[in-house]
Amino acid sequence: MWDTLNALHAANKDRKITDLFDENRIDDFGIETDGLFFDFSKTNIDAATYEVLIQLVQEKQVVAKRDAMFSGAKINETEDRAVLHVALRNLDGDAIFVDGEDVMPSVKAVLAKMAGFANAVRSGDFTGQGGKITDVVNIGIGGSDLGPAMAYPALAPFADGPKCHFVSNVDGADLADKLAGLNAETTLVLVASKTFTTMETMMNAKSAFDWMAKKVANPADQFAAISTAEEETAAFGIPAERVFGFEDWVGGRYSMWGPIGLSIMLAVGPENFTDFLRGGQAMDQHFRTAPIEKNMAFALALTGIWHHQVCGYGTRAVLPYENRLLRLAAYLQQLEMESNGKSVSLTGEALDQTVGPIVWGEPGTNGQHAFYQLIHQGRQVVPCEFIVGAEGHEPHLAHHHKALLANCLAQSEALLLGRDYATAEEMMKAKGHEGDALKAHAMQRVFPGNRPSTTLMYQKLTPFVLGQIIALYEHRVFVEGALLGINSYDQWGVELGKELAVKLSPAVEEGGSTEGLHVGTAALVNR
Ligand code: F6P
Repeated sequence: MWDTLNALHAANKDRKITDLFDENRIDDFGIETDGLFFDFSKTNIDAATYEVLIQLVQEKQVVAKRDAMFSGAKINETEDRAVLHVALRNLDGDAIFVDGEDVMPSVKAVLAKMAGFANAVRSGDFTGQGGKITDVVNIGIGGSDLGPAMAYPALAPFADGPKCHFVSNVDGADLADKLAGLNAETTLVLVASKTFTTMETMMNAKSAFDWMAKKVANPADQFAAISTAEEETAAFGIPAERVFGFEDWVGGRYSMWGPIGLSIMLAVGPENFTDFLRGGQAMDQHFRTAPIEKNMAFALALTGIWHHQVCGYGTRAVLPYENRLLRLAAYLQQLEMESNGKSVSLTGEALDQTVGPIVWGEPGTNGQHAFYQLIHQGRQVVPCEFIVGAEGHEPHLAHHHKALLANCLAQSEALLLGRDYATAEEMMKAKGHEGDALKAHAMQRVFPGNRPSTTLMYQKLTPFVLGQIIALYEHRVFVEGALLGINSYDQWGVELGKELAVKLSPAVEEGGSTEGLHVGTAALVNR
């Protein structure tokens, strides 16, 4: 099927996307589910190409793999684990069995424990040593940070609990800056680490503990832990009633639906958090039941496969026209690049194609005044994924939202249509240019156009919609990984650097030895 796709690309790469638009294109290349709309009409995918992409899904048996994931099968083969983040939002679903045991009762029990704690903190039943909790500091990194750090600003209009702060970097500046100005007596620290061994998190947790110990009599009373590692949390001094556990079948970057989302629940309350889960659950239902050709997760994945594996575009930009999604690109970088940045198959064979594209982005309109120049006129093509809501949360600033929306739609249109030389020349003639200067000025104003983009639209950013969007991207990663035959759920590529950091630590101590280090590293240490 790859050969057929490559042949279709070779045959059609110079055609105009605008020529594909007939009266049916918007319907044929648009998918709606529960108020979320995905438009992929502004791509060079036509009906024949889409059909072959769907045949690829069939050839690679992705539907069977999807069903295996939802059923609790151990599809994370290299770690011998099930992949069941979907269980965390399976609020009204059936039992899911791992090793013969239904996981749903414990998922629901942990959710209830989280809600009990969140309600107690929010109401003031649980207090710090100086009164009601005003601030929550979540200490975690990667999947134990990025989900809540992304969702907290995203759900700001719903936040009526304590203020949340996120510390991740081992750079002491992160901790110092976040703790500055906080009252330790009314601060709750969440130590979020699946393994409870991650160097950055444990160092930050220990330093936060020391900070707290200087201000309150019983610092451990204002600590809670989120982890799968009960022994380690107990050794840290956090009592079991404030330890929120999850199982090894929840991957770090897929974990914000459970206890890792506790800071979000503290900020927006259990009801709004449940709406977030319901959004994810609704997307799961769509992913499991909609026919492939009208299935948003498949369509988003197939668009990604078409652009990266077939067309060879090296990156994709995620461009939310929603300022509150300012951390979405960072979140998706881990989700997509840690999941699919691989080069061997599940069975260990080297792949003959690149797998994960580079994902990057910034909210519009800011990006327009920074890097859109390259997107419009650079030589490389960057498929753009626009994300936008019809409404904002600020009725008194509705005119701002209209300007935002107009800009988003203008960008996808500009990428599609571009501007030809004749039009640019007319513009410059009207400004009085002629001869060589006319050409020079006109050429600067030519836009090649024919650049692909997709648009994800919703009414208004709510917890439910955020849940839909995040689950959609998770399933996109799954489909892309399944099509390419890789394991999207391990991350061996992060290990080597960690090991070398341990080896290097003594060398950077005062008077430390550089023996055994590469000469290039030793030179930097000595400097
Ligand atoms: O180093 C990568 C990683 O293992 C991520 O996959 C994970 O999200 C992050 O580190 C944090 O891990 P933990 O939650 O165990 O501290």
